[in-house]
Amino acid sequence: MNEAGRIIVTSTQTFGTDQPDPDETLADPVELLGLWFPANTDELRPLMTLATIGADGYPHTRNVLLSEFDGEALYFHTDARSRKAGELAANPRVSLAFAWVDLGRQLTVVGDAERASTAEADAAYRARSRYLQLLAWSNSPELAGLGTAERRRAWAASAGAHPEGTLAAPPTWIGFRVVPRRITFWRGDADGPSNRVEYTRTRDGWTAERLPG
Ligand SMILES: Cc1cc2nc3c(=O)[nH]c(=O)nc-3n(C[C@H](O)[C@H](O)[C@H](O)COP(=O)(O)O)c2cc1C
Repeated sequence: MNEAGRIIVTSTQTFGTDQPDPDETLADPVELLGLWFPANTDELRPLMTLATIGADGYPHTRNVLLSEFDGEALYFHTDARSRKAGELAANPRVSLAFAWVDLGRQLTVVGDAERASTAEADAAYRARSRYLQLLAWSNSPELAGLGTAERRRAWAASAGAHPEGTLAAPPTWIGFRVVPRRITFWRGDADGPSNRVEYTRTRDGWTAERLPG
């Protein structure tokens, strides 16, 4: 598969496993996140819709890869000059949405995004495919304004100047971690209504509510 194809493949939703009994209410739903997500070493990273709040009060959404889940927080990575980074600096509140359409699963998470450490961001960069590593260096507004032929020339020059394995993260590469405060698990059921459970963090743990829809 060529490199352009790899981008498409990274959007494939890989799924881990589920709790044995979906009727059981969990004391710690964060553990269930760890089951639903594939291992951090799985090259096919889950794709999630990330909503941020703009200065005008409207939400903005886009899809990003879940780089990592460390048992506590969800990590994504982006360019420091991006709109989302600017919006998060002003308002860290985010909502994340995942869908495993074939399996009939949906997951939504609400929380606050905080900057991840440089060490974590560097490790996430190293784990990205070569295509995505080059892409992180090609995210400039100047390049975006060029025509396709010029953009491809710049890409080829950048790839030629940096043989595989030699690239480090650009200074604009940053990571965010989101510690969930609300988590909603949705399961389809071919033989009955969907199963939706929303967990909300409290001072001492979590509350759980079963919801329709
Ligand atoms: C499959 C797929 C994966 C993507 N992964 C990322 C990602 O991990 N990080 C990122 O910054 N942008 C990613 N993008 C691009 C974003 O959707 C978005 O266009 C870009 O980050 C600019 O968003 P902003 O202007 O709202 O900040 C991805 C796009 C697609 C289609």
